[in-house]
Amino acid sequence: MLVAMLGLGWGFMNNDPKPKVEDEKMNEFIDSLINEMTIEEKAGQLTLYTSGWDVTGPVLRDDYMDELRAGRAGNLFNAHTVDYAINLQKIAVEETRLGIPLLFGLDVIHGYKTTFPIPLAEAASWDLEVIEKTAHLYSKEAASAGINWTYNPMVDIARDPRWGRIAEGSGEDPYLGGLIGAAKVRGIQGMDLSDPTTILACVKHFAAYGASQAGRDYHTVDMSDRELRQNYLPPYKVALDAGATTVMTSFNEVDGVPASGNKYLMTEILRNEWGFDGFVVTDYTSINEMVPHGVVANLKEAAELAFNAGVQMDMQGGVYSQYIPELIAEGKIKEATLDEYVRQVLEMKYKLGLFEDPYRYLNKEREQKTLYSKELMDHALLAAKESIVLLKNEPAKGQSEQLLPLKKSLKSVALIGPLADNQKDMLGTWHVAGDETKVVTLIDGIKQTAPNVKINYARGADFNGDDRSGFAEAITAAKKSDVVIMAIGEDYTQSGEAASRSEIGLPGPQQALIEEIHALGKPVVAVVMAGRPLTIEWIDENIPAVMNAWHLGTMSGPAIAQTLFGDHNPAGKLTITFPKNVGQIPVYYNMKNTGRPFDANNKYTSKYLDVSNEPLYPFGYGKSYTSFDYSGIELSSTNMEMNGSITVSATIKNTGKYAGKEVVQFYIRDLVGSVTRPVKELKGFEKISLAPGESKKVSFTVTVKDLEFYTRDMSYKAEPGDFKVFIGPSSAEGLEADFTLK
Ligand code: NOJ
Repeated sequence: MLVAMLGLGWGFMNNDPKPKVEDEKMNEFIDSLINEMTIEEKAGQLTLYTSGWDVTGPVLRDDYMDELRAGRAGNLFNAHTVDYAINLQKIAVEETRLGIPLLFGLDVIHGYKTTFPIPLAEAASWDLEVIEKTAHLYSKEAASAGINWTYNPMVDIARDPRWGRIAEGSGEDPYLGGLIGAAKVRGIQGMDLSDPTTILACVKHFAAYGASQAGRDYHTVDMSDRELRQNYLPPYKVALDAGATTVMTSFNEVDGVPASGNKYLMTEILRNEWGFDGFVVTDYTSINEMVPHGVVANLKEAAELAFNAGVQMDMQGGVYSQYIPELIAEGKIKEATLDEYVRQVLEMKYKLGLFEDPYRYLNKEREQKTLYSKELMDHALLAAKESIVLLKNEPAKGQSEQLLPLKKSLKSVALIGPLADNQKDMLGTWHVAGDETKVVTLIDGIKQTAPNVKINYARGADFNGDDRSGFAEAITAAKKSDVVIMAIGEDYTQSGEAASRSEIGLPGPQQALIEEIHALGKPVVAVVMAGRPLTIEWIDENIPAVMNAWHLGTMSGPAIAQTLFGDHNPAGKLTITFPKNVGQIPVYYNMKNTGRPFDANNKYTSKYLDVSNEPLYPFGYGKSYTSFDYSGIELSSTNMEMNGSITVSATIKNTGKYAGKEVVQFYIRDLVGSVTRPVKELKGFEKISLAPGESKKVSFTVTVKDLEFYTRDMSYKAEPGDFKVFIGPSSAEGLEADFTLK
């Protein structure tokens, strides 16, 4: 075994369990290793196969064990649990010629076993500390089960809720999306990769995957370089600046070239402009997919295009392993580049400490202690509560007080809907290893939270088809109850990868069910759980209280119940616009004004005949059980120098009767630019807590960095002129003031 021969094997390194990673030592070690490797073994280090344990895409081969033994598969994904992975690592270490340990990847997107809210939900917390801690905890849990690499964070900006993968990102805003991506990278990777509770992060999907046309997954992306750089690339960059070590390509094309063969993205931007020095992995078989894309005639050409574009690792496609030796022999790719790519992969293995101890992530005792530990479950509850967005809260018919929170002294509630007593769907999309039997359902959450309230439960309807045979039971349950809670929305398969929908209303007969329940005249609370914004205009118009509870993971039930019954005051704010109907899409807050902005009195302005331009709920929107008043916007100066700064502040007062949290948002509008500018751009926010009657002054500092953009000649800078600033509770409301950049 070469590593042992070099005196740098596990035995030697084990004398010091946590050696500092010194670059020189690492380089020397990796140089010697590369010198020993055949071309096939080098290609093997650039190869990643899914194990038979789980699959997250099309399966092309089942012979990965032979490849592994031959040193032609240097990395595996979808192999987890210590028991399962340890044998695979043993094969790599003991049976391959050079004994190079494997990387074990997994889509730990919002949890390994303990499942946290889906990313779009957690983004609604606007709480970077909570988000970072969540990422740290699920990485720690996954790390205890043998995983040392996760394909997370996904920072794709998305403006089309038909796209099922909107669930996996942070929504529509590049500024917030970047901050959340960076928080996740910090949480996943920690300060020291050789700490076995930290793993490699992977920023994905590079690039612009969220802009697939008509929200259809894997579809064409076509946008200007200006739009790409202004709105889509920044979150990837910010997440990389936070230290992310790997990047995943996207399935889509950008300017006619599929991302996995796109040199502009993978080399010019990622390496040359941004200085990225980790490695790039394809998204699944996206090298192979360049054949049906129609930019290459066969897999060999695909391998050549991807390799020369700057893609280091081939996930699942097997084309690098198959064609790199031939391509080198034919001089179509360079061995020096191959060595460089192999180095980038081996460096990560080294930094994780795998050469020092390949079993460092494979400790059964640690795994047993970590899975579903109290620390994880407590935080899963907290994160779930912070993710809930209260969309509407009015008095029920004939009442004077807002319907929520419900009183624990209520005699009975009807709990109706397919998500009321449901474990699996609460986990949401991409819950790779999440165990549904650990999920606390809404019905159990209510029993724990309000034990004296009698629950009359009826499933009522399903997520698909039009079977209404359960309606009668639901109506009976509603009739004998004081209040009705409707637990409605999507099942976990209705969002996520390959789960685009062309209509995004309540699926199946649920809309008909809620209309029949509403007709009974009882007070109704709608708890909407889904992986995307749903077009729930009828609900907004007819149901007095509406809560968006996404898919919140293992602790969904208690989180929702505690919020319904007032143990928790909701403070989530949407990070994605909710359209009124599909025809409005794309509808997002940071749009352009157009030359004919909306004017109700002028036919020839930008609008629809059949729906307003306003969305159902705007970006940044979310209510609380208390109320907040915004007043006294002030600027430290109405003039700002290019190298100076100004402060903008306002006072926020809790004018209601509950203690509550508020996400105070700060937006800027550049009134005149050399190119058109958005009507508003988020530039800051602060989540504050206020007791009833309490007020707080919140300040935001503006520097020239906040005003920069891609100008007409594509230089990134601020232009002198007039700006508006807004401080408010959402992108659609707030106080405004003006200043001039000199
Ligand atoms: C395809 C998905 O697009 C990507 O996000 C995921 O990481 C890989 N499959 C691996 O499962």
